[in-house]
Amino acid sequence: MKLFIDSADIEEIKKINSYGILDGVTTNPSLIKKAVEKYKKGKKLNMELYIKEILEICKGKPVSLEVLGTDYNDMVKEARILFKKFNNVANNVYIKIPVNPCLELNCDKNSDGIKAIKTLSKEKIPVNCTLIFTPEQALLAAKAGAKIVSPFAGRIDDYIREINRIKFKKENYFPAEGFKKGKKILDDNGIVSGVHLIKECVEIFKKQNIKAEILAASLRNTRQFREVAKAGADIATIPFSVIEKLLEHYKTAEGMKDFTRDIVPEYARAVGHE
Ligand code: E4P
Repeated sequence: MKLFIDSADIEEIKKINSYGILDGVTTNPSLIKKAVEKYKKGKKLNMELYIKEILEICKGKPVSLEVLGTDYNDMVKEARILFKKFNNVANNVYIKIPVNPCLELNCDKNSDGIKAIKTLSKEKIPVNCTLIFTPEQALLAAKAGAKIVSPFAGRIDDYIREINRIKFKKENYFPAEGFKKGKKILDDNGIVSGVHLIKECVEIFKKQNIKAEILAASLRNTRQFREVAKAGADIATIPFSVIEKLLEHYKTAEGMKDFTRDIVPEYARAVGHE
């Protein structure tokens, strides 16, 4: 499974990239806002140079940049602008298109995301289709030509808890097999958890021989990372803080203390100490 960082913070991206295990970056308008607030500090931030620096750091690794439009024309226009302006830096720009750009249900632009993906794919602009909450949306996005489809696992867990009035913190673990209230497992149209959403997408894509990569998005803890890997996700995108936690365990630190305490001079010399 590929590991992407879900961040627009250049310091975070640089740090994780220096580990040598980073495969890509996902951004969205909220992550860009967070980075702007952190780095602007009263001054002007040159967003174009900032994005170019990220693209250079991540040469050879896909970096997703999202459109802002909420209809077909705007999304396609912005996607072309983003791709033209930035892809020549390191040839690694993916355009993030929402599967459905409507701000409310029952709007007449339900299919604008899919249409935009089709148009951009024909122009060989690689698309990461975002804000996916059902396997059906994933299937249609892939059919339209998206190279990556991004089901939002964490937000499905939030949604199941919200509609059932369960108090939670975003980082709280939500069981992959679903959450029981009384005897009933809570669900959203048959999806019992974010990890389950990823599993369903993986199963369908395998059976239907669909080539698009499944990117497990909106992951909030290390256990979800493990579970989406088990489910067969092609990519997991996770925030900086969660990537850092992937390597931690109390017993690892305790073991290091023991081994450090037990160093004898004979062995220290053998490994190159004076
Ligand atoms: C993915 O591409 C999205 O940027 C992201 O994973 C959203 O995560 P959130 O639900 O934690 O905001």
